Amino acid sequence: MSGQNSSRNFDFLVIGSGIAGLSHALKVAARGTVAVITKKHKAESNTNYAQGGIAAVTSREDSFDLHVRDTLEAGAGLCHEPTVRTIVQEGPERIRELIELGMQFSERQIPDQPEGKEYDLGKEGGHTKRRILHAKDVTGKEIEKALLQAIADNPNIEVFEDHYAIDLITTAKLGLPGENRVVGSYVLDKNEKKVVTFTGRVTLLATGGCGKVYLYTTNPDIASGDGIAMAWRAGCRIANMEFIQFHPTCLYHPQAKSFLISEAVRGEGGILKIPGDGEFMQKYHPLKSLAPRDVVARAIDSEMKRTGSSFVHLDITHKPARFVMNRFPNIYQTCLSYGIDITKECIPVVPAAHYQCGGVQTNDRGETSLPGLYAIGEVTCTGLHGANRLASNSLLEALVCAHRAAEHILSTPLPEPHLDIPDWQTGRAHDPDELVVITHNWDEIRRTMWDYVGIVRTTKRLQRARKRIENLLDEIDEYYWDFTISSDLIELRNLAIVAKLIIESALMRRESRGLHYNADYPDPDPDLAQVNTVLVKGTPPGQEPVVIQ
Ligand code: FAD
Ligand code: SIN
Repeated sequence: MSGQNSSRNFDFLVIGSGIAGLSHALKVAARGTVAVITKKHKAESNTNYAQGGIAAVTSREDSFDLHVRDTLEAGAGLCHEPTVRTIVQEGPERIRELIELGMQFSERQIPDQPEGKEYDLGKEGGHTKRRILHAKDVTGKEIEKALLQAIADNPNIEVFEDHYAIDLITTAKLGLPGENRVVGSYVLDKNEKKVVTFTGRVTLLATGGCGKVYLYTTNPDIASGDGIAMAWRAGCRIANMEFIQFHPTCLYHPQAKSFLISEAVRGEGGILKIPGDGEFMQKYHPLKSLAPRDVVARAIDSEMKRTGSSFVHLDITHKPARFVMNRFPNIYQTCLSYGIDITKECIPVVPAAHYQCGGVQTNDRGETSLPGLYAIGEVTCTGLHGANRLASNSLLEALVCAHRAAEHILSTPLPEPHLDIPDWQTGRAHDPDELVVITHNWDEIRRTMWDYVGIVRTTKRLQRARKRIENLLDEIDEYYWDFTISSDLIELRNLAIVAKLIIESALMRRESRGLHYNADYPDPDPDLAQVNTVLVKGTPPGQEPVVIQ
């Protein structure tokens, strides 16, 4: 570690530059200075890869009640209904704001009206109406573009790329008396190789999900669960981590890393098939290939095990080639680059870890259980998704909660800043001599989670996983304090903690519900509907009724 440590002070510290962090930063910038900390290039985020779009009620054939009903149905009894209603109802207004910032959603011509245009609404699993606003199949990229342009135009916001938040700074950790609160974060500046103390009168976690904890995922490398692990270490309530969503259709190709085939392909008529054997989803759900995600992912897993095949097929060849190429240009081109012409041949697909439904527990204003700390987006558990997220509801949740949190913060007196914070202590740390420890442990965590804590779980497999992850945690902890901090080490430690939180939560839920399927408890337990799994560091794990106000 070279150079001096240093300190940067802002009114608002935002960790993460996906849809949640950027849209919140734009709002709070009305009241003060904002630092946006982000691990890599500012656009690199799960948001940037979102394909399907944003679910919101914008058509006369749709209604808030229907969107709420579909969300509750997918959530398998565990959603917090008032939160669902609030987010669904406030969606259209937030979408209008996004459009005002320059976001362009795909439109289509209204039949029989040569001059008339309307939004081209997509459909995905579990939605009973067409309600997904999208920009062809690159919705997330276009959202990031629009938000980052607005950020660049805002003199109150400074973006710090290649900066890795290491840990939250709390008054308790500083040994200060009074109520424990978050006052900032220690952040590794990767290029300068130094740890900077960032302070904020309010800190926002918008660090996204943890797909990288699994061997196969649709998520980019940034998704290592850092926010969850930091919040856990700081003492926040972490809820419902057992509910990991596996997307049914990730491209299966030896050279393709994490490429999603959007559910919108099935929304436009794509059919899942066993290679050489035809359709199979009719055996599992009346909605067939467009059944909710948990059902489809489990069905594919089961058919792959039954037939011994390493993948299933997604067939959209019956649609006109021009339609497919125009509606899904990114998917068409990417598959073509791997030698698959999706207008003429089936796409080989497999399920992969996609979305974390649990996370840092917040209310619908983004407040966590720790004063001074807000959280928004995939890092949170607001109660919207319950036991299984309805497709395209996450971008919506991030937009609405970013606004609600900002509104709440702007209407409350800001606490005085804490500026007198000691520098990050490197202690006895020296440069690592064996980087293989990091790569080996990284691989072992991801394989253990895939093999033992995947789509179908058993108590025995979960216990095996717990033993292995606990050993790894001990080893990583020792390594962490001995060697100089690096981005790989930060992520490895966080991945191991998140793996442990998922396993503990999964062991506690002795039933099958939504995304959590344990073959030893194959049915839902009616007594556990509306019961969250809550973990807080240093206290015995507990399950408790939904208490998000
Ligand atoms: P992200 O967009 O993931 O942003 C997290 C940010 O935090 C990044 O900038 C990252 O660099 C930063 N960060 C993380 N850790 C640190 C740290 N330690 N220090 C500093 N910065 C850090 N949802 C939908 O609703 N519709 C879709 O169509 C859709 N399609 C998807 C397709 C794919 C391939 C994937 C992976 C997800 C998709 N999702 C979709 C889910 C959705 O994209 C995400 O849930 C959502 O974008 C999360 O937004 P976020 O702002 O919370 O986090
Ligand atoms: C997709 O396009 O299939 C992803 C949608 C989502 O995860 O919400």
